[in-house]
Amino acid sequence: MRLAEEEGVLRELEPSVERLLERHLSVARDWLPHQYVPWSAARDFDGPLEGSAWAPEQSALPQAVQDALLINLLTEDNLPSYHFEIASRFGRDGAWGTWVHRWTAEEGRHADVMRAYVHARRAVDPVVLEELRMRHVGTGYSSDLPTLLHALAYVTVQELATRQAHRNVAAACGDRVGEQLMARIAADENLHMLFYRELYAEALALYPDAGLVALADVLCDFQMPGATIPGFRARAVRVAASGIFNLDVHHEHVVQPLLRALGVMALPRLGPAGAQAQERIGLHLERLTAQASRARELYARMKAGGSPLPVDITDRRTLT
Ligand SMILES: [Fe+2]
Ligand SMILES: [Fe+2]
Repeated sequence: MRLAEEEGVLRELEPSVERLLERHLSVARDWLPHQYVPWSAARDFDGPLEGSAWAPEQSALPQAVQDALLINLLTEDNLPSYHFEIASRFGRDGAWGTWVHRWTAEEGRHADVMRAYVHARRAVDPVVLEELRMRHVGTGYSSDLPTLLHALAYVTVQELATRQAHRNVAAACGDRVGEQLMARIAADENLHMLFYRELYAEALALYPDAGLVALADVLCDFQMPGATIPGFRARAVRVAASGIFNLDVHHEHVVQPLLRALGVMALPRLGPAGAQAQERIGLHLERLTAQASRARELYARMKAGGSPLPVDITDRRTLT
């Protein structure tokens, strides 16, 4: 899509952005991150305060929950890159700009509060966490998506996947405080997803063919923004085997509900490009179903046999 066309799409969608932003502001509930951190559980660390260094036995959380928390937190840490991505794509003016800044302000508290939680609980190694943050944020993130519609499709899928990742950590962590915190973050992500999903429905109504092509491209090659975290794959395999986030979750709680909500398989007025994109999405769903069921069987067999997890049975592109 050329620049002039992109500007046309931004203009055409602006009334919808304004309406959805107003709705978002009317339903978003303010919350205070500091109220979700178990400060009474915290102790000084080694270093200038001469407390005690972290040791693995101090974490009460299962290994897969530690892995998922670390991946989710480092993913949230890269907010400066995500802000740059959407600010340079959506602009900083009008309703689009208001959304960009509001969204950034809401996202900012996620990494803040998660880091405070994991430090207070001594849930993950703080030295490894900081080393990885420096490398991950120091590398930055760039989606390299070709059009504005691709960027909108991507954030729609990503916000839903992120909601599900936080929600499933909440359910698996076994710590009432952590559960409340992750559920609270997931509620933010849910509203972000609703904003983008409804905006995408408007985009599909205006540009059914280009919108469906962009959605098909994004779905068929989806990769979470955290996939570039150093050592991502080994952690993602443990997270997948635990059921916190894997191909089944991606299929059942991300792709299918999104396609249903957008009515993708029954969109009217499609030309040849849209019809082909619809077919690609159908084939992708079939492939995902088959891959998810193969992975499920392997995890079950490995759990029964106690053998180590091979790293090639998960598709790293679809794990958070
Ligand atoms: Fe977030
Ligand atoms: Fe979000």
